[in-house]
Amino acid sequence: MKKKILTLQTTIFIFDSGLGGITIFNYIKNIFLNINFIYLLDNKYFPYGNKSKNFILQRLIKILQKISLFHNISLAIIACNTASITSLPELKKYFNFPIIGVTPVINLAIAKTKNQVIGFLATNTTLQNYKIRNKIYLLKKKYMIKMISSPKLVFLAERKLLGDKIILSEIKKIFFSWYKLKIFPDTIILGCTHFPLIKDELKIIFPKNIYFLDSKKYIIDKFKKLIQYNKNLLNIKKNILYYTKKNKDTNRIKNIFKNMNFHIFKKFKI
Ligand code: DGL
Repeated sequence: MKKKILTLQTTIFIFDSGLGGITIFNYIKNIFLNINFIYLLDNKYFPYGNKSKNFILQRLIKILQKISLFHNISLAIIACNTASITSLPELKKYFNFPIIGVTPVINLAIAKTKNQVIGFLATNTTLQNYKIRNKIYLLKKKYMIKMISSPKLVFLAERKLLGDKIILSEIKKIFFSWYKLKIFPDTIILGCTHFPLIKDELKIIFPKNIYFLDSKKYIIDKFKKLIQYNKNLLNIKKNILYYTKKNKDTNRIKNIFKNMNFHIFKKFKI
């Protein structure tokens, strides 16, 4: 694909089922200083971690088709491992703007581990995906890969960001089986964009000196290949948050995004 040049009034669209994509937004916001961001959280169908590939793909097509009627999207970032791993290649065929995503950094974990025991945290849909399963199958001979999918962990990460108190023992319970291991993982893949939000809690309940690996660094390599960006662009910033369902958390969510320099908040009917 030819490099797309970001110009005035262009927009980067960030998608996640919930608030996990914020971990990606926070990482890239300082790179694209003058570009408008749209963040869409599909809280109507949160969590995605138990949804089928077909559901997620159809939902993403619908959302991107509708959003691109209203906005000139220069780049879409699927800031959700579950949605990226299930849908990215097919999704790209439907749109003429570049779409990139985040996927669990299994290769990086292999490069980092010293004791050959790797923890892999992701949603059920991600861990069940055939690409992931095939990869894990091939690695099994050499590495011990301990996988945990926990909707509760996604939920707790979201609640933490919303300001609720997180009880460490609740997180600890999720990892009950790991405490019985002879060798604890020295490298843990955070294969869901929600999980960096609770890295501090994981650090407390796990042994010291563990590498926690999430996918955000690779996102920059991906878009550097696709787009050219001039930091001196002068643009009037207008960041927009769309949510697909209004509920008791909506005001808290708006406040989180206000603090991230978002100015417009709207329900997206879809
Ligand atoms: N943040 C999403 C991911 O990276 C998924 C969370 C969910 O909706 O289950 O996989």
